[in-house]
Amino acid sequence: MRVLFLGDIVGRMARNEVIRQLPGLRDELALDFIVVNCENAAGGFGTTPKICDALFAAGADVLTTGNHVWDKKEIIDYIVDERRLLRPLNMIEGAPGNGIVQVRNAAGLRLVVVNIMTNLFMAPNNPSFTALNDALVRNKLVRDADFILVDVHGEATSEKMALGHYADGRASLVVGTHTHIPTADLRILPGGTAYQTDVGMCGDYDSVIGMEKQAAMDRFLGRGNTRLSVALGPVTLAGILVESDNVGLATAVHPFRRGGVLAAT
Ligand code: FE2
Repeated sequence: MRVLFLGDIVGRMARNEVIRQLPGLRDELALDFIVVNCENAAGGFGTTPKICDALFAAGADVLTTGNHVWDKKEIIDYIVDERRLLRPLNMIEGAPGNGIVQVRNAAGLRLVVVNIMTNLFMAPNNPSFTALNDALVRNKLVRDADFILVDVHGEATSEKMALGHYADGRASLVVGTHTHIPTADLRILPGGTAYQTDVGMCGDYDSVIGMEKQAAMDRFLGRGNTRLSVALGPVTLAGILVESDNVGLATAVHPFRRGGVLAAT
């Protein structure tokens, strides 16, 4: 199987570019499934029903999110009805929506996506390791899924790497999101799970993690009221492409970067 995961879409230019390119990428890369993190797709903060509908129509099979999922209130009703839009599994009890989903494509292949939020340096939520273990006990490769993708949304590289090893051999891919910076450590772990600490964002990298760079610098310099807005320069799409075998373990892993100021892969 061939699965593409794209990192956090930041703002309008990035989401338009993802929506424009997804249909072609599915054919060009012979993809079985596409998963995209969209938690910053609406002006850098949250996502909306209209954006999610457009991403699904363009070919996204599942959308993941993170700490910004509730920034746009209209998403609350939508997420209750649309099970392909995930919020982190380990949010406090009673949060609307789901953190895990199984989808099936026309060929009958089963994809399970798990959205986890890490604990270190993030707003309080339930323990990430317990949530991931529960998800992987309930959903096993071969028995329940042909591919299991885990989006670990969070700040600390150490926690994300530990979660990757914790899932090694039980998931097809553990990929980090949230920092908006792609890390160079993508590989296949000893047990067969593809891993990357952070896949990076889909957005303008001539910025500070997707936000207009002057305002971001002014903030650090303590220069008065600086409102962050999304940087609107050329967009880089950043992702990871994983090939897997018939027991759901990774056989190859490729960085995917296209457009904008980052070196293409
Ligand atoms: Fe985030």
